[in-house]
Formats: sequence, structure tokens, C-alpha cells
Amino acid sequence: MGTRLLSTGRRRQGPPDRASADPAFPRRDGVLRCGDVSLEALAHEYSTPLYVYNGDRILERFHAVRGAFAPIDLLIAYSVKANPNLAVLRLLGEAGAGADIVSGGELYRTLRAGIDPERVVFAGVGKTRDEMRYALEQGIMAFHVESAQELAALGEVARGVGVIAPVAVRVNPDVHSPTHEFTRTGHASAKFGVSPDEAVLLYAAIVEHPGLSPVGVDVHIGSQIREPGPFLAALDVVLGVADRVRRACGADLRYADLGGGFGIADGEAGALDIHALAEGVADRLEGRSLSLVLEPGRFLVGDAGALLARVLYVKRSGGKTFVITDAGMTELIRPSHYGGVHAISLVCDGDKGAVERVDIVGPVCEQGDFLARDRRLPVPPPGALLCVRQAGAYGFTMASNYNSRPRPAEVLVHGGHATLARRREEYGDLVRGEHDD
Ligand code: LLP
Repeated sequence: MGTRLLSTGRRRQGPPDRASADPAFPRRDGVLRCGDVSLEALAHEYSTPLYVYNGDRILERFHAVRGAFAPIDLLIAYSVKANPNLAVLRLLGEAGAGADIVSGGELYRTLRAGIDPERVVFAGVGKTRDEMRYALEQGIMAFHVESAQELAALGEVARGVGVIAPVAVRVNPDVHSPTHEFTRTGHASAKFGVSPDEAVLLYAAIVEHPGLSPVGVDVHIGSQIREPGPFLAALDVVLGVADRVRRACGADLRYADLGGGFGIADGEAGALDIHALAEGVADRLEGRSLSLVLEPGRFLVGDAGALLARVLYVKRSGGKTFVITDAGMTELIRPSHYGGVHAISLVCDGDKGAVERVDIVGPVCEQGDFLARDRRLPVPPPGALLCVRQAGAYGFTMASNYNSRPRPAEVLVHGGHATLARRREEYGDLVRGEHDD
């Protein structure tokens, strides 16, 4: 061991060398690995930029959540948007996960991966009627409805299909979630959910409607939240709604869905204490007949994934040092879009040069194209391999073809074996579906 975490140069908590204890990508004999497999060997075989996922770590995280909430009747509905690769979905599905989806495309992937539709919940403020029809025909567990108009549309579609739509209302608890403003969803002025008062009215409408049936209550307050407090405050609000619904409509809801958003340790700060959260949830569910649904995405796959990038050039200009790599915002948009701070390490100890403060940037023609800024880094030579950590969630799935850059390959390492989970795109893929005649 002895991985050097390249300093973030920003507020940071916890041990300075946190990445050296990284269970997904340990360092042995001076080389970072995924399990036992050398990252340099993977980069050599599959080229770069490259996404690498540690399947053993994903399962470890899944079981850690299950273990923490053990006494509670729990469905872990993996949030597909975090990493929708079929191999990842299949791995989690076979371990017993359901899925939290937000589109027909995510439902398609989920079914392709063999996940039982009866374990699928469908969230999102803008479900189309086509998506509703598709999900009703497949028999999903529930629609998480976010407005009165959506509810009316769902009722109509359900009657057209000739089935009863199972519904949970997504409540906006007006809770402040301490995270980036783009990933905060629990405050009253967010576009998500409805107020507790409106939720009670919607349940009354659901009970009256022949095509709708109330099955649960839902909340999701944001992403990468590192404290239990906001989750528990949100749970108090939805349990209050469940009580009011029982009194006002006589409906007994079957489950409370607390959403996802459980924070992981990254280059900026530490993780949510999942056990403290579980304790608070267990206290609140005690004596109630509600089961629990959780929708973790990042918590399951975030630190199990890394983006490998090759250093192309080192450039000094304007008083700055730029480490230019073959990956940038097209492969991982989190640093530029959310100010995400990913730990970055050299894969091979032998590549370490003198430590300098550097910007790690990509080849994309945007000044906002960077993977890290102002990091203290042992400056690597051209050809060195960098490992950008915590990239298993919202990494590849948010990658784009901007600048006509083919998207990278994805490799899953599981049980000591590396398999190609998605091939690298070729130039032909860039123009597939276009017409020039
Ligand atoms: N449930 C719902 C309804 C969601 O909208 C989300 C994420 C999740 C669960 C899973 O959240 P997680 O456990 O992964 O934090 N692209 C941003 C994150 C956006 C999250 C969107 N919704 C990022 O890279 O930070």
C-alpha cells in the first residue's frame, strides 16, 4: 500500500491519505489494481480513457446497506441513472436489488438485465403517456407521482390499458439538503414532489379513482448528502403524510420510500454514516406496518468505479502547470458541472515526479474542461496513467460525444476476471442515425 492521494487543495476532512485505504482500487507492488488486476494491464488491453468497475466492491456495498438496515423489511431499488450498464444492473439484480427508474429507457435496461418489474419504482416529474403505458404493461411495483396533472394522466392511461396503476406520491418535505444546488431536491422551491398538504389531496383522488391504487409514500431529497439529519427530517414528514392519509381516506400505505442520496467519501469529505441513518429510520418505523424502500445509486457504485486517463502532455504557461490527459468533461462531467472533487492518483509509483500544483485538464475545446484544479500532484511524464476515483456513479452515464469524441469502453472486474461491459465507440458510431443525402 502507499498510494498517494493527490491533494485536492480544497477543504478536506478525514485522513489525508484516504485513497490508500481504497478497497476497490488498492495499491500493491507500486501499481494500483482493481481487485487483483493491474490497472496498467487493463489500460494496455482496452486502451484509454477507460471506465473500470469493481464488481466485488459493488456487491460489498449492496450487502452493507442490507446489513445496516437488517431488521427492517427493505427493498433496495438501485437507482439506475447512477450507472445503467447492463452488467452492473445484472450484478445487482442477481444480488436481490430492485430498481429506481426515471425513463422508459431505464425500464428497458432494467428488464434486459433480468430485474423483476415488480421490484421497479418509477420516479420523475415528466413521465410521458407512452412511458406510463410501457411501465403499466410490464407490471411495475409503483409510479412515484409528482403532480396532480401527472396523476390524472396516469389514471387515464391505466384505464386505457385496463389495469390499476399502483401509486405512491412523492412528497416535497421542504428539507434543506447540504449538497450542491443542482443535486438538492427536497426544498419547497425544487421542481420535485408536492407539498404534504397537496399529497393528502392527491391520495384522496387516488382512492376515488377506479384506475389508481395507493401503495406507498415517497421522498428523495438530493444526492451526495453526508449527514443523516436531513433524511430523518424528510422521513418524519412522509410518515406524517401516511398518518393523515389513513385518517382522511382510510388507506393503509404499504411502504415508505426514503429515496437515495447517501453520500460517499470523495476527494472533498467523508461518507454518510449509514448505520446512524439506519438507527434513526428503525426508530421511526417501529410499531408501523410500513416496509422501507431505499434508492441508493452512488452509494452502491460510486467508489467501485474509476476512470483511467493517460497523460498526453504537460504544459506550463501563464504561471500554471497543466497536466493534459486523454479524458475530460466528455468522459466525466462532475468536476466541471457540480464542482465534484474526485481523488486522483498515479497508477504506477514509478511515474511520480516533483510535486507541483497543477490543473488536470482534458482535450475538449472548453475552458471549463477539467478533471481537477489546483491539485498538488507529483507531476507525471507523458504516457503516465492516472486513476480518477469515485467515478462509478454519474460517470459514463453522463458522458457525451461532444467534440465528436467516441465514448470510452467500460470494464467490469468481478471474481478476479475482467470482462468488457461495453466496447469503446468507433467513429462510425458517431454518425449512426444521421443522414447526409
Ligand atoms: N432516487 C431518485 C428519485 C433520484 O432522483 C436519485 C438521483 C436517486 C434516487 C439516487 O441518488 P444517489 O443515491 O445516486 O445520490 N449527476 C449528479 C447526481 C444526480 C442525482 C439525480 N438523482 C452527480 O453527479 O452528482
